[in-house]
Amino acid sequence: MPIVNRIAEFHADMKAWRHEIHAHPETAFEEHRTAELVAKRLAEFGIEVHRGLAGTGVVGTLEGSGNGPGSDRAIALRADMDALHIHEKNGFAHASKNPGKMHACGHDGHTTMLLGAARYLAETRNFSGTVHFIFQPAEENEGGGRVMVEQGLFEKFPAEGVYGMHNMPGVEPGKICVRAGPMMAAYDVFELVILGRGAHGAMPHQGIDPVVTAAQVVTALQTVASRNTDPLDSIVVSVTQVHGGDTWNVIPDEVVLRGTTRSFRPEVHKSIEPSIRRIAEGICQAHGARLASMKYEMRYPPTVNTAAETERAARAAAAVVGADNVVRDPTPCMGAEDFAFMLQARPGSYVWIGNGSTAGGCLLHNPHYDFNDEILPVGASYWATLVEQTLPRQG
Ligand code: NI
Repeated sequence: MPIVNRIAEFHADMKAWRHEIHAHPETAFEEHRTAELVAKRLAEFGIEVHRGLAGTGVVGTLEGSGNGPGSDRAIALRADMDALHIHEKNGFAHASKNPGKMHACGHDGHTTMLLGAARYLAETRNFSGTVHFIFQPAEENEGGGRVMVEQGLFEKFPAEGVYGMHNMPGVEPGKICVRAGPMMAAYDVFELVILGRGAHGAMPHQGIDPVVTAAQVVTALQTVASRNTDPLDSIVVSVTQVHGGDTWNVIPDEVVLRGTTRSFRPEVHKSIEPSIRRIAEGICQAHGARLASMKYEMRYPPTVNTAAETERAARAAAAVVGADNVVRDPTPCMGAEDFAFMLQARPGSYVWIGNGSTAGGCLLHNPHYDFNDEILPVGASYWATLVEQTLPRQG
């Protein structure tokens, strides 16, 4: 595999950085130690460091050595730094030292691959223009990427394109998946409060049972996908929490349902909230109950890659892993990504890099997951090649 030789030479350093980050996982907006480590490394490489966007965000800025035409151009590369609220079940030496927190999504590897690319590019500077290395907090649930954009990421660090990468267990190491158009889904959350009237469990006719009502709401919500949406559109409506009642013989006053939805097309995305409301209100009314409240929060938009930047990503990937190992047009994933907010602000492309075997529970968000150290130089070489190809050295 033609990874960049100089990057292969410091593979052991990258492994050590990755293990250090993995052992000290930090969750949303609390990535202080990780941000410190990233900032320190970037400064050591001779890269200008900016801190404070979205609290723990770090941005490194590096200019190429070419000073001819094109030296006013810039692109941005992004990695995420946060961990998850999971108790790690791995027994290896670099396992989490923070109980209840774990790098179970490989953001430790993403941060390391971008640091590896930064080190190489700072040594060689074999490009024209500027590259911004974005290390963002709070990718999981809390939208650290959105906060960085809102706080002026691309005004402070103008870039013509922005690029992201995530590891993918189950895809062979040495393969990179590239797709123009939708790659990851829009992600929303909802909460329904169904109000009935409490009664003795033996005398249900004296009350209004919110449990029976809620059960029918849960079932009927499946028709949002199966009956309200074009079968060729992808959509998920999942009720993931049911809360109500305290004991065996009491019908409670209320039941709370919570869940998540996923979708791609904007028209479909916008139709979900009114569909849920219509179904929940209608079923509540049919049973004499009431939909006391409904919250619907749009969390992440879909992650949609632009065509020209995706071609650049594919070309860089092919240069590193070979055209045969570039997986074109993989099936999109119903998971979500807050890189979507950066893609709303700038053209760009988000790729998956194969993390290899899923044996032993090496799946994203699994307590036995670990990032595959063997792909560190592959990902770092992809980043470096993308910069050298997209901002070719002139002058
Ligand atoms: Ni992730």
